[in-house]
Amino acid sequence: MLYLGIIGYPISHSISPRIHNAVMEHLGINGRYLAFEVKPPDLRDAVFGARALGFVGLNVTIPYKEEVLRFVKPVGEAKLAVNTIDLRKMEGYNTDVYGVEMAFKNASLELEGKVALVIGAGGAGKAIALAIMKMGAKVIITNRTESRGLEAARELREYGECIFYPMNKIRDLSVDLIANATPVGMKGFSSGIPVPEEILKPGMIVFDAVYNPVETPLIRKAKERGCKVVSGLDMLVYQAEKAFEIWTGIKPPVSLMKRIAIEALEVQKESP
Ligand SMILES: NC(=O)c1ccc[n+]([C@@H]2O[C@H](COP(=O)([O-])OP(=O)(O)OC[C@H]3O[C@@H](n4cnc5c(N)ncnc54)[C@H](OP(=O)(O)O)[C@@H]3O)[C@@H](O)[C@H]2O)c1
Repeated sequence: MLYLGIIGYPISHSISPRIHNAVMEHLGINGRYLAFEVKPPDLRDAVFGARALGFVGLNVTIPYKEEVLRFVKPVGEAKLAVNTIDLRKMEGYNTDVYGVEMAFKNASLELEGKVALVIGAGGAGKAIALAIMKMGAKVIITNRTESRGLEAARELREYGECIFYPMNKIRDLSVDLIANATPVGMKGFSSGIPVPEEILKPGMIVFDAVYNPVETPLIRKAKERGCKVVSGLDMLVYQAEKAFEIWTGIKPPVSLMKRIAIEALEVQKESP
């Protein structure tokens, strides 16, 4: 039996179990992917406990993507944040970076030479900024808490050009791409948009890490204002594809994963 899972706090809205269980069923793998709500003092016990129980891998989500670095050896860019653990080797990976790169590739968007504004400096913000830099763009990162934004920009400079810019001044910027890496616009969190509407210009690329709802308030507004949009759902699906491959060595069918993700979000739409 292949045991996989996800840890986070809270975790109840995660659709990763639906995606991975559907893939295992489709591939005829006798396995189970389970979601675990882990309280902050229990994080270490949860990771080592899963390993002791024979779990092969875990996904890691809010708020533990950085904290798990205390227990696992990061592979490559995962030293910024970990979203996938291979418990057999206690190695941490960041498949969010791959997820973002693939989301842009899937939309046939070239980022070479562009200037991007990334809003948010948590695990997702750093992964998105890094993916955008790897694709040849310069990144300006902004964050509600300035110290965290400054620290993220410092860490990211190892990979390319990245500066911090205060959030209350972003109206002054002229950028080619805006990426939201905050929960603003997420179902149950807020129905607002993370930037002043007037900075969304026709032809600009707008990416939203939030995928629930699939069409977020930012994506809706960006479409209205003539921007090209990239959905966080693609990031979610591609990061899951890469995680599954790390755990099993098998490339899962992305189209099935996307269909299951959309169905799961439709079900959640009905619930409060
Ligand atoms: N599509 C995907 O596959 C995918 C993957 C990962 C995450 N996400 C989404 O990305 C978002 C961020 O995730 P994360 O893992 O980076 O979380 P995180 O590490 O907790 O970071 C949250 C970020 O959002 C900022 N923030 C929180 N509330 C805010 C508000 N009301 N106004 C402005 N900024 C606010 C925080 O700023 P402070 O530093 O000031 O607190 C921080 O920069 C979540 O909505 C998550 O669902 C999507």
